[in-house]
Amino acid sequence: MSQLLYEGKAKKMYTTDDPYVLRVVYKNDATAFNGQKKASFEGKGRLNNAICTKIFTMLQGKGIPTHYIDTISETEQLVKAVHIVPIEVVVRNVVAGSLSKRLGVDEGETLERTIVEFYYKSDELGDPMINSDHALAMELATEEELAEIRRFALSVNDALRAFFDAAGIVLVDFKIEFGKLKETGALVLADEISPDSCRLWDKETHEKLDKDVFRRNIADLPETYEKLLKRLEDVK
Ligand code: C5P
Repeated sequence: MSQLLYEGKAKKMYTTDDPYVLRVVYKNDATAFNGQKKASFEGKGRLNNAICTKIFTMLQGKGIPTHYIDTISETEQLVKAVHIVPIEVVVRNVVAGSLSKRLGVDEGETLERTIVEFYYKSDELGDPMINSDHALAMELATEEELAEIRRFALSVNDALRAFFDAAGIVLVDFKIEFGKLKETGALVLADEISPDSCRLWDKETHEKLDKDVFRRNIADLPETYEKLLKRLEDVK
């Protein structure tokens, strides 16, 4: 029996016969600004599933543990069940989005040092930014886990940057989430990595190949994601 366990903005999670395995279904829905802007795009679920599969497979090949097991259809993956750590981790290489607004620095400035930010995962509060002390005081993670999350996030950044660079794409920033495996408690990369959760710019033209085309009404979302997938096709 397969039961709907959770429905998020872009995905649904179902149980499977194995208590340690879940089935993820990628939806066609897109949301922005904490759910204030909504739309549905034919093909989005398929495209994000394909892009995320490619990225998680690449990361696992580089020794980075993820929840990903297998892709079982155009829109479905099997993943390991985890307890999600309620911290959204944003990694930034180039100034964009909320960082540009908050610090008054132009979008597109390359940062001297990669920035890792933590946000408390809470739809009601609009995912407020927190620091390590907040995370510890609120018992969202232990000190060791926070250190591991930071190390992990930087390794993911190194692997992703090289991967996108090979396709002529700059990895501006991205958001990731971590989980503790239900089976063993080990920390792994969870959720998804897709153009919904990354900023990706063409190296030469700075054309946007991510969800900002929807957030800012710049271009057609499925056409943009299809273009991205094509460019990643031959990248190992
Ligand atoms: O909006 P902001 O500039 O803080 O976003 C930084 C990065 O994190 C972007 O790549 C954005 O797509 C991603 N993000 C996300 N989910 C959120 C917030 C940000 O995927 N809730």
